[in-house]
Amino acid sequence: MELAGIDPKSVTIEQLAPVDHFHARGFPATVELADVLPVRENDRLVDIGCGIGGPARYLAKRFRCHVDGIDITGPFVDAANKLSVLVGMENAVNFRHGDGQQLPYEDEVFDGGYTQHVTMNVPDRDLFFAEAFRVLKPSAFFALTEHGLGETGAPHHPVPWSKDGSGAYLMRPAETVAALERAGFSEIEVTDTGDKYLKGYKAAIELAEKGEAPVFGSHILLGELAPQIVRNAARNIEERRTQPVQIICCKPL
Ligand SMILES: C[S@@+](CC[C@H](N)C(=O)[O-])C[C@H]1O[C@@H](n2cnc3c(N)ncnc32)[C@H](O)[C@@H]1O
Repeated sequence: MELAGIDPKSVTIEQLAPVDHFHARGFPATVELADVLPVRENDRLVDIGCGIGGPARYLAKRFRCHVDGIDITGPFVDAANKLSVLVGMENAVNFRHGDGQQLPYEDEVFDGGYTQHVTMNVPDRDLFFAEAFRVLKPSAFFALTEHGLGETGAPHHPVPWSKDGSGAYLMRPAETVAALERAGFSEIEVTDTGDKYLKGYKAAIELAEKGEAPVFGSHILLGELAPQIVRNAARNIEERRTQPVQIICCKPL
């Protein structure tokens, strides 16, 4: 943080944003998703696969709501809770360790839920969606962003969600919609976000080639393969091996 000129004693969520929105296109993608979600003040939301908590903190602050985050990676949950204390938001968000396929929450407790760039690594999509459906109140929204499987063949690896294809469970957008319907969701709206992601990846590649990549950025979490990962992610979209989508739906009344 000091390298990026951030004083650890007075950190803001805006300063953390280049790193703690741990998905392709980062913070702008979270803002775009938030712009279309029907969140109200005092709502209780669930962030499934919350990472280190940037999206949850942003939504909690923007809408004055409460967000419960859950993630399967223990160290991310620890970091999420520590960062929340650092920015004084520990009462607005709460992060715990767990699997989206087996949520540790009561039935029908959340006003809305979302999962950003998580489902590419979820083996049982039906179980994952059934659990989201179970914990949402009737008429709650559910939003999902992911890289769906494209039409032309397997993605080039490494990509952000897998080094070599292991642990990756991409589905075609139409299959994801069918799985959401099986879980009981309705009013399913799919938006193809491929162009936006391609533009985002290309901008990152250009900055890196000019030696102008930010010191404080998502490469910190992606590790040393970051340049190759970003190039492959762009190429996969261009070759229609992956199809990024945003899906918003709701639990019927
Ligand atoms: C690309 S990161 C996205 C993190 C966060 N949603 C964000 O946008 O900043 C994917 C996250 O999904 C989590 N994850 C993968 N499978 C999961 C599962 N079955 N249940 C909960 N979290 C999971 C990973 O640990 C990781 O933190």
